Amino acid sequence: MIYFDNNATTPLDERVFEAMLPFMKMMYGNPSSVHRLGRIAKSAIETAREQVSELVDAQPSQVIFTSGGTEANNLAINSAFGRVVISAVEHPSVSEPAKHYNPEIIAVNRDGLIESQTITALIEKRPDFVSIMLANNETGVIQSISDIAAQLNEQGIIIHTDAVQAVGKIHVSFKKLGVQMMSVSSHKIYGAKGCGALIVDKSVSSVSPLLLGGGQEQNYRSGTENIAAIVGFGKAAELAKAELDARQTRMLSLRTMLENKLAQFSKVTLFSQAALRLPNTVLFGIDGVDGEMVLLKLDQRGVCVSSGSACSSGETEPSHVLLAMGISLQQAKTAIRVSLSHQNTPAEVLEFIELITPFGF
Ligand SMILES: Cc1ncc(COP(=O)(O)O)c(C=O)c1O
Repeated sequence: MIYFDNNATTPLDERVFEAMLPFMKMMYGNPSSVHRLGRIAKSAIETAREQVSELVDAQPSQVIFTSGGTEANNLAINSAFGRVVISAVEHPSVSEPAKHYNPEIIAVNRDGLIESQTITALIEKRPDFVSIMLANNETGVIQSISDIAAQLNEQGIIIHTDAVQAVGKIHVSFKKLGVQMMSVSSHKIYGAKGCGALIVDKSVSSVSPLLLGGGQEQNYRSGTENIAAIVGFGKAAELAKAELDARQTRMLSLRTMLENKLAQFSKVTLFSQAALRLPNTVLFGIDGVDGEMVLLKLDQRGVCVSSGSACSSGETEPSHVLLAMGISLQQAKTAIRVSLSHQNTPAEVLEFIELITPFGF
């Protein structure tokens, strides 16, 4: 099998699994308990908090563990107020909860980038809360969040960024980005599913909890913690930090190889080519060929890719991201997303190219 769908989810790293195991077996204490098993669990969470904070260059106290990227985004948006603005290419876990605020939607250009004049025009409208993703899950396009945040911060505007796809693939510093809230997810960095965090600068922004109860996670997220998953997230974060440069180099060399091969096909269009992108993501289309059909054919040959946003798989609607970029409905339907991992090999890229060759000319 060739797994090229790492933006949908990554396999669990063996070392992460090993770290999680004891917390699914003998270390079953509730971290709120005062006895030794409780204290072991509590201390494991705090270690994980440090590991996650180190990966994203934040303070441990700024890390609020959640059930994933979706909850982190919902928690951030639940804390929005006044005039809310989001970009046209946000993940549904931002755009859906934002609907409660009747948000203004800001446009991206043909490459999927928000242009600086769009931000200048936005500031004139005096928004209160802005949410713009750091890297897009479909195109891999990276927005200039630190520049945008600097301009918004000057006006006292709160900014949240969904960094779920960026973390573990590029260097992400919460401090340097200058945002007040940032969402991250464990299963995109070889950790377990159902775990994530919202990183919050509490000196600037106030968080409105979604879940009330026992007051866990500094009162921001009640509910007995998913210890094993949190411990795994911590371990995955530690590994991602230690191996980031090597992983990036590996992914980028595979992506370059794939793109160079794809560029030789007369019918292939590579989307967002001119923009700065994640080192692992390639979104392309083959003229006149339905992306969903290619996906199914590849699946029969043991190759896993996505035809758009994996989070909305099963949905046959064309990608809202490509439509927002001004790509025609017809061309958007051709989209195929390859999202690589450092665990992939050049041989897999070559096999993939061979399999799609009949469609590409
Ligand atoms: C950009 C982005 N944000 C948020 C999420 C949701 O994260 P989770 O699956 O951890 O809920 C995803 C998942 O694909 C994503 O790609």
